[in-house]
Amino acid sequence: MGEFVEIFEVGPRDGLQNEARLIPAAEKIALVDCLSRAGFRRIECASFVSPKWVPQMATSGEVMAGITRAPGVSYAALTPNMKGFEAALAARVDEVAIFGSASEGFSRANINASIAESLERFRPVAEAAHAAGVPVRGYVSCVVECPYDGAVAPEQVARVVRALHHMGCYEISLGDTIGRAVPEAITAMLGAVTEVVPARQLAGHFHDTGGRALDNVEAALAMGLRVFDAAVGGLGGCPYAPGAAGNVATEAVADRLAALGYETGLDRAVLDEAAAMARKMRMG
Ligand code: HMG
Ligand code: MG
Repeated sequence: MGEFVEIFEVGPRDGLQNEARLIPAAEKIALVDCLSRAGFRRIECASFVSPKWVPQMATSGEVMAGITRAPGVSYAALTPNMKGFEAALAARVDEVAIFGSASEGFSRANINASIAESLERFRPVAEAAHAAGVPVRGYVSCVVECPYDGAVAPEQVARVVRALHHMGCYEISLGDTIGRAVPEAITAMLGAVTEVVPARQLAGHFHDTGGRALDNVEAALAMGLRVFDAAVGGLGGCPYAPGAAGNVATEAVADRLAALGYETGLDRAVLDEAAAMARKMRMG
């Protein structure tokens, strides 16, 4: 058996948040339930953000209430502030994520705060989550390039990663938000980030606009990362990152990892079923 590499499924959240059609909660619930049968350990299903900013995620409470929870699976949600955290706790999420940016431009556009302000806003969320026994994951967006500020220095990414690590995030997911990164840039960025946080507490979160996401997964594997975010059917995009394509498709990452001799523990047939479901949701 090959070494285990985990795919963290983010399709129901990152995949669907950008869809123009308001997808009924029942369809999202059916997708999560199918994904629960595929063998994931963690599935991001919801986002407790302002419904004015991301209307698609307004049904997050309903989705969390409607899913059938499989034993051993952690059902995750984004929580940008205390209001979001309280809603997530009420919805009985298993883990939450605070999400910052390595670039000022995207931080402002996405969460209406500077990087420093956002970190101050995350601190009480992390403290409340720890007090409630809820694990906290961190995201850092624009780890190579920002749609507003251009190139992002690896040291700037490392600075935000360090702050989230100090807040107690058990893992920090590094987002190539606009999907334009090339493997050389990922390697350089990870060189700086692994100076401050061990590779085994990092995850790769690659969008696939430039078609290099799978190569970026390989570059990150070489740097020691063993967790990758992906969205079934290649769903997605970010409403505050113009031009960003979907997350790299879960099926494609699973196939690449299998070809490289890694074990993902996923049931490929169920994954195909979920991917077909995701594509259909997209077409409405
Ligand atoms: P703001 O307008 O500065 O917030 O937004 P505010 O505190 O001034 O509140 C304004 C209104 O929003 C108030 O309502 C609040 O109650 C409400 P009003 O009084 O006007 O009726 N509000 C909320 N409602 C529900 N849940 C909440 C919440 N918070 C405030 N949690 C805020 C600041 C952060 C809330 C806003 O900017 C926001 O919701 N942003 C989220 C944007 C987002 O979800 N982006 C996509 C996810 S990130 C991503 O996709 C990247 C990632 O995949 C990694 C990668 O690819 O790089 C993770
Ligand atoms: Mg994303």
